[in-house]
Parts: sequence; structure tokens; C-alpha cells
Amino acid sequence: MPVLKSEVVPVDSEPHVVAVRQSVRAWSQELGFSLVDQTKIVTAASELARNTIKHGGGGTLKMELLNEGIRKGLRLTFEDHGPGIPDIALAMKDGYTSGGGLGLGLGGSKRLVNDFQLESKVGQGTKVTITRWK
Ligand SMILES: Nc1ncnc2c1ncn2[C@@H]1O[C@H](COP(=O)(O)OP(=O)(O)OP(=O)(O)O)[C@@H](O)[C@H]1O
Ligand SMILES: [Mg+2]
Repeated sequence: MPVLKSEVVPVDSEPHVVAVRQSVRAWSQELGFSLVDQTKIVTAASELARNTIKHGGGGTLKMELLNEGIRKGLRLTFEDHGPGIPDIALAMKDGYTSGGGLGLGLGGSKRLVNDFQLESKVGQGTKVTITRWK
């Protein structure tokens, strides 16, 4: 799939979450997303960035502007080399948290985008890829 533009940014601390929100907002505006769709992907990105920091011990976000046929989209890939997720189905359940949270981040993010993929290996890390099409 043709990638028109791509950038990798660090996701290691709270200020990075603010930067991620700003970059995702800017890229979705550039794509011509509606205000509602901008907010959806910014919210999803925010949750995943926080998970990368809080549960994954920090990592990166790859932002990609996609062009498939006549449609355009924004693909975001969050990757860390933290402890990984032992039970992905359980982690995806609304209300499940391994500690302290509301347990709504992963399920909520999935509902805000068109495509959601989670890969994780215990002891190796976690990769979450989301895509929102215009
Ligand atoms: N990058 C990650 N690395 C390791 N575990 C993760 C990662 N992301 C999510 N998890 C696991 O999945 C669980 C569910 O994540 P989710 O974001 O839904 O809830 P939460 O972060 O616990 O709470 P919140 O509602 O505040 O986001 C987490 O509690 C954690 O155990
Ligand atoms: Mg979370």
C-alpha cells in the first residue's frame, strides 16, 4: 500500500503524549478528516500512547499517511519492548486492567478506528496498529 508520508516519534513520557496528540491532529487535518474523525483518532492515539508508556515502559509511534486507490488514511503503529501481554483477549475486555486504570483504553481505541491490530509476545513487547480512513 502506497505510503505518502511517514514519521517515527518517541513515546517515553507524558510530554510525548501531548506531542503525539498534536501531530495526529495535524496529520488528520491535512488528510481532511472531519472534526469528529480527528477527535476519534486523536483519542485512540492518546490511549495507546499512555499504554506504551505506562505498561510498555516506553517505545515509539510510527505515523503513516496512506493512499489506497482514491481513499486516504492515517495508520499509527505503537511499538514497545516491554513485558508484553499474556492474554490478549482478556486485555481487550472493557473493564480489565492489570492495575490502576479503568481498563477502557484498548477496547475504546478499537471502537474509534476502522482497523485495529494488536500483536504481543511475553518478554518481547507489544505492537498496536490502528488505521482510520477518510
Ligand atoms: N503496551 C502494553 N504493554 C503491556 N501490557 C499492556 C500494554 N497495553 C495494554 N496492556 C495491558 O492491557 C490492559 C488493558 O489496557 P487498557 O488500556 O484497556 O486499560 P488500562 O491501561 O489498564 O486502563 P485505562 O482505562 O486507564 O487505559 C492493561 O491493564 C495492561 O495489562
Ligand atoms: Mg490504557
